Amino acid sequence: MQDAPRDHLPQTVRAERRPVDEHDSLRANRADWDRYADEYQATHGAFLGDAGFLWGPEGVREDDLHALGEVDGRRVLELGCGAGQCSRWVLGQGGLPVGLDVSMRQLQHSRRIDLELGTAVPTVCAGAAALPFADDVFDVVFSAFGALQFIADADALVLEIARVTRPGGRLAFSVTHPTRWMFPDDPGEGGLVASQSYWDRTPYVEVDDETGETSYVEHHRTLGDWVRALAAAGYRLVDLVEPEWPADHDRVWGGWSRVRGLLTPGTALYVADLA
Ligand SMILES: C[S@@+](CC[C@H](N)C(=O)[O-])C[C@H]1O[C@@H](n2cnc3c(N)ncnc32)[C@H](O)[C@@H]1O
Repeated sequence: MQDAPRDHLPQTVRAERRPVDEHDSLRANRADWDRYADEYQATHGAFLGDAGFLWGPEGVREDDLHALGEVDGRRVLELGCGAGQCSRWVLGQGGLPVGLDVSMRQLQHSRRIDLELGTAVPTVCAGAAALPFADDVFDVVFSAFGALQFIADADALVLEIARVTRPGGRLAFSVTHPTRWMFPDDPGEGGLVASQSYWDRTPYVEVDDETGETSYVEHHRTLGDWVRALAAAGYRLVDLVEPEWPADHDRVWGGWSRVRGLLTPGTALYVADLA
């Protein structure tokens, strides 16, 4: 099954598809990212860059895409900021970032990098489904494979993001390209054969074999689901970027690889403005 850019399936879990609510998604993913954070940063930190802004495993950079628009002097919220690399990039552009993440261990890595670089990215440890901010405070909200595909109720999430965004503000977020859910999560040839329904929204779940508890969850939406969620919250879609795999790029990251990337899109990046 497709998942966000993770590289491992812990040996004591089994993968399946079953309904999971918001509470269980938050509990499972917080614990999973706390466990996985050290490995994630050790494996991908150099590729991400301590103050770099990558939109996904294809290596597309915000420096080239400008999906956020102008950030200088703007209040910018990052959802699922991990070690704050993207927010640190925003800081370097003169922006006023806040990084939010559900994993305290990820945020400790952000603090570690800040101490090494002499920067200071403000961070908040919270789940993105209930944002601990007042109404209309951010000019830009973004997420690079962060929280959006970990939340059970996408419609409520987009409304919550709109609540904290000022009128005319921007939302930009990247997620696993919805078409990837048709394929096994295999970076090789096996990941090129469609075997699951694109329209099956049943969450991808990892279950701990010993306890039977949910240990990781991802929620799937189709391209149309996201467009409808944005429209219902008052956003106008201004772009849907599907980054192409660069000819000279040969990095495997979870299910993302050159083999698959040359044939199918791996990332969908939505850019939308609030009315
Ligand atoms: C694939 S990582 C991406 C992190 C960062 N954007 C990057 O590019 O390295 C996903 C991040 O989302 C965070 N996350 C997962 N569920 C979340 C939730 N419900 N609310 C906020 N953050 C969440 C994880 O802790 C993790 O740091």
